[in-house]
Order: sequence, then structure tokens, then C-alpha cells
Amino acid sequence: MISRNPVEDIKDRLGIVDIVGRRVELRKAGRTLKGLCPFHSEKTPSFNVFPENNSYHCFGCGAHGDIFSFVMRTENLEFAEALKTLARQAGVELPSRPSQKQAAERHARLLEINEMAAEFFQMRLRNPSGKPALEYLYGRGISSDSIDSFQLGWSPDSWDGLSGHLSQRGVNEPDLVIVGLVSQRENDSGVYDRFRGRIIFPIRDEQGRLLGFGGRSLGDQQPKYLNSSDSPLFSKGACLYLIEKARQPIRSLDQAVIVEGYMDALMAHQYGERNVVASLGTALTDRQLGIIKRLTRNVTLALDADTAGALATLRGLETAREVFSEEKVVPTPRGLVRLERRLDANIEIVSLPAGTDPDDLIRQDIEQWRELLRQAKPIVDFYIERELAGVDLTSSKAVSEAIRNLLPVLAEVPDRFQQERYIQVIAQRTRMPEQLIRSELVKTNVRDSARPKRPAAPEVDLMVEAGRRGSRPSDAYLLCMLLSYPEERGELPDDLDSSEMESPAARELLRRFLDLMATNEWAGLGPWLESLEEPLRAFVEEALRLAPEGVVMSESMVREELTKTLREVRRRNLRREIDQVKLALADAESAGEDERRVLASRVEALLSSLQPLENASSEAVAWPNPSLGGG
Ligand code: UTP
Ligand code: MN
Repeated sequence: MISRNPVEDIKDRLGIVDIVGRRVELRKAGRTLKGLCPFHSEKTPSFNVFPENNSYHCFGCGAHGDIFSFVMRTENLEFAEALKTLARQAGVELPSRPSQKQAAERHARLLEINEMAAEFFQMRLRNPSGKPALEYLYGRGISSDSIDSFQLGWSPDSWDGLSGHLSQRGVNEPDLVIVGLVSQRENDSGVYDRFRGRIIFPIRDEQGRLLGFGGRSLGDQQPKYLNSSDSPLFSKGACLYLIEKARQPIRSLDQAVIVEGYMDALMAHQYGERNVVASLGTALTDRQLGIIKRLTRNVTLALDADTAGALATLRGLETAREVFSEEKVVPTPRGLVRLERRLDANIEIVSLPAGTDPDDLIRQDIEQWRELLRQAKPIVDFYIERELAGVDLTSSKAVSEAIRNLLPVLAEVPDRFQQERYIQVIAQRTRMPEQLIRSELVKTNVRDSARPKRPAAPEVDLMVEAGRRGSRPSDAYLLCMLLSYPEERGELPDDLDSSEMESPAARELLRRFLDLMATNEWAGLGPWLESLEEPLRAFVEEALRLAPEGVVMSESMVREELTKTLREVRRRNLRREIDQVKLALADAESAGEDERRVLASRVEALLSSLQPLENASSEAVAWPNPSLGGG
């Protein structure tokens, strides 16, 4: 059997004690084993091996890691070599890495399948059965020429329209699943179409390769838009709709305009505004801006009034990572300024009048649209304007609050002259002394740099780990299970606590949810979603999408999922804390023996709480028995 997760399998099979034991004489000391560190010279043993989590840590020199790092260091090997050696010893067969050529052929095949699908969708739109879709498009002012040149399509309202068609043309089912056009049925074999009864927008990269699709429902079916699922070709955060058409114009105009919706970008192009792309939703990612940056440094974000409004309330959340996945950069003012600096770009924002979107504006009056774009403001100006717009200058509290909200954004402005200009503007507008604002800003800076930075390494590891295992983000999935199945989930676990959530958004959401449940004010998901402000609502909506598609979950399934997820969350939190205490231990080298002992026993305590979770049955989580409590 070829291992899917060779690193973990090898670690499990070989065990740290044997591997280290070949080089170091180990003696048992409580739950750990101790020996003389092979990485620095010492007389009393401070090299510890933790069999429970397959790791070692030297409290003398700080060396720590797993069997891989141990073998790499002691035998002076690269990771790939160590992997091969240890795999052989463990009897684990490594998946053979496809050759360059094979990989390229594979890639080409997947692209080809997408092209075949696009053709199918296009054909269907022009078929009699596509008539309602065609009429819908005409009704929205999309011309017949645009339909052709943007290769819009229609996916019939059937479970096997596309899959049937492509099977006949020799495409195999696994490949269809891989490109994200169909889903695997849960129980019996076979697949079903992902896009059913939707208008199809092909999404290409800047070289015109067809990476995936967006599909809009005709009526009010939710979700309004659906994309190809993530695949080796497609990832929502790495695509910009119409970039293949906008590439040249963006270059020659030295300016890119980013709108939020497919329809908006389409309409812009139809009316000759060709430097426009859509970000596939409100969040803008690093990778998307990276694509643009190769073409121009001047970027204008045309935000719907709602998004722009949300931007102004986003001050609390700091960066992207906090909102959902590692790659989504929610445009917080602060995050945007950072991004601008990092990418060395020049980002301006224009907010559209409430209730309109680019699509309407362009169709009504293209000149007005152009005028709006000319009014775009640099991020910080935009944000200052927003923040001060509604402030009652006679209320000292409101003024103070507004200025305080602005300070963290000002602190991100890299250019001191610009920063000074902004201080002057704020001072004039609020009639506050510049000097006062300046000194408060300095305090903000000091606070920022004094704030302990979370150690980056474990976090990155977790992310990589999640990606490698193909696992879903646990916090979001937990919310998804809690919210999606009110009937099936039964009682909430007694000890569920929002502080266990890792991302601030999830923490805040779970806190509010539990509060409402506790006070009996919970009125259901719909009203709650309505009540949430934007970044939080987006988080919930993303989370809800994690529910398995096409399966009706039974009570026992939901409870099982909840139990497993909660355990995952706790395991993750414990592991993180262990890593941190270990780092602290490494740092405490110069500290007294006492402090180190305290830290070391903390690690041990954490490890022993972790152990039952690592090989837990579902009883490990305190979840009330449904037969005892109500639901
Ligand atoms: P909008 O709701 O503004 O869509 O969402 P739109 O493009 O203006 O659509 P129309 O005018 O109602 O047809 C903006 C973008 O957010 C993403 C899509 O990329 C959409 O174009 N989105 C929206 C989703 O991915 N899923 C959704 O359910 C809704
Ligand atoms: Mn729209």
C-alpha cells in the first residue's frame, strides 16, 4: 500500500526512541527519556525524548524536532534523503513523484476537460432548453456578442447533463471529480453534476488557460454563485475573472480596476472598459494582487457600498488570516495598507452609491462611472474620510473614539511625511492639536511593537499540516455543524467555550452564539445571519459551505462530527501550547533551574492531557447524552 501521508506513517512506525536510541544512550525519566545531547557537549543529560509526541528537545542547546530532523542533523542529510532512508527502514512505500513530463501532460488533460465542459455549457445556452437563461442574460443587458466572446454558458438543471456528456466523450469520472465539475456520490458509486441550472462564467488565467467556472443561479436559489470546487487548477483566491482580456489594457493604461462581481466585470468590458477584473467576491487576496502587480502598480478597488461600509467597521480585525483561510485577505484598512506596502503598489478605493453596483452604473451612464473612478482615494484618505464623516464634533467622546480608530491605520503608513500630512488633516478636521495626535500615535507604535508576536513557526506548520492532510479548518467546521443541524446536534457540550477558537472571528461568533443560546434568545440561523456585520457574516457563510454536499446527516452523524471536531480543536490548542512552552523552555536557558523545572512540568502536564485526545474514542469529549437531555 502506498502511503498517503508518509511522514506521519513513518513517524508512527519507527518511533523516536529507537531512532534516537541508536545514537544516544537514553534513560527513562518519568514520561520522557533523557540522554547526553548529541548536538552540543555536556556532562549532565539535558536531551529529552518525548515518546508520546514523537519529538525530542534539548534544554541545553534548544535543539528539538522529530525523527526527521534528528536524522537530518546527525547524518547530515537533506529532508528528501532522510525521508527515503527512513521510509525504507519503516517499510513505507513513498508515492512516486510523477516526472515533469507526466505532470505537464496531466495538467494539459485537466485543462482540456474544462474546455470540453465550457463547450458543452455554451452549446446548452444556445439550445432550446437554455432559453430562460439566454433571456435572463438579455434581460440584464448582456449582448449576444458578449455571450459569445465571453463564452457564457448554461448548465442544464440535471444531475448528469455534463457528466453524461463528457463520459461519452471519453473523460473518466475521477478526472471530472479532480477538476471540480462533479461530486462523488456519498453512498453508491458514481458522480453528479456540480452545476445544475446555472449560468456559467468560464474563469481563465492571464494566459487564457481555463481554470474553472462560476455559476449563477437563475432565480433565488442559494447560493447565488457557485464556483468549481478547489482543484489542482482552480482556487478562488488565486483567480481574477476576465484577467485574460484585461491583461493588455491594464498594461497599456497602467491601471487596473477591481470590481466585486462577475456581472460587473462583464458589463465593464461590454462597454469598452477593458482594464477591469472581478475578484470573485468581497475578499481580495494576496495572490490576486500579485497577479495584477506584474502588470501595473496602480490598482483601484471599486467597492459596493456594503463592502465599503464593512471596511469602515473592520478596524478591529487585523489581518486576513484572522478571518478565514490562510490566503484570504479581507480588506481591512490596516491589512490593505500593509499589502500595499508589501507589494509596493498604489491602491485606491472608490465606494459606489448605496444600492448600486458597477453593473447598473455602467449601463445607466458610462461617463458617470468614469467620473466615479476618477474620485478614487488612496486607502488612508478614504478611511479617514469615512471615519470622520459622521462624527459629531461637539461630542468629545465621539471625536476621541474616531481618532483612536484611525491611529492603527496611520501607524501602518510607511512614509513619515505622508503620515505627518494625515495628522494635519485629522487635526484640522477634529480641531485637535497635532502634537497630541502625534504623541498618541507614538504610543500606538510602541504598543504594537511591544505586543508579543505569536511564534510563527507552529502556526505555519499547522497550516501546512492541514493542507497536507486535506483537512478542513476545524473552527469553521465546528460552527458549521453547530449551525447547520439544529435538530440533529442535540444539546450543546457543557464545556464548549469560545476561547477555544483560534481565529478571532470564530471566537467572536461562538461567543455570541453561546450567549444567545444561554439566554434563550436564539431565533434561528436566518435572523442571526441578518444581524451579523460583514466580516463575521462572510465567515459564517464560508463555514456553512463546509457541510458535506449532497448528504442528509443523521443525528448520530452530526454528533460524531461535532465530537471529532471538538477533539481536533482541543488537540490543536494543546499542541500549540506545548510548542510554545517548549519554545519558552528553550529561551529559559539562562533562567534558574526552578523556572525550567516549572516549564518542563507544564509541558508534561500538557502532554498528558493531549494523550487521551490523540488516541481518543468519542467519549473523550464531555458531550451530554442525548437520551438524558432534551435537544
Ligand atoms: P454580488 O452578489 O454582488 O454578485 O456578489 P453580482 O456579480 O453583482 O451578481 P448579480 O448582479 O446579482 O448577478 C459579488 C461576487 O461575489 C461572489 C461572486 O463572485 C459574485 O460575482 N459571490 C456572491 C459568490 O461567490 N457566491 C455567492 O453566493 C454570492
Ligand atoms: Mn450585481
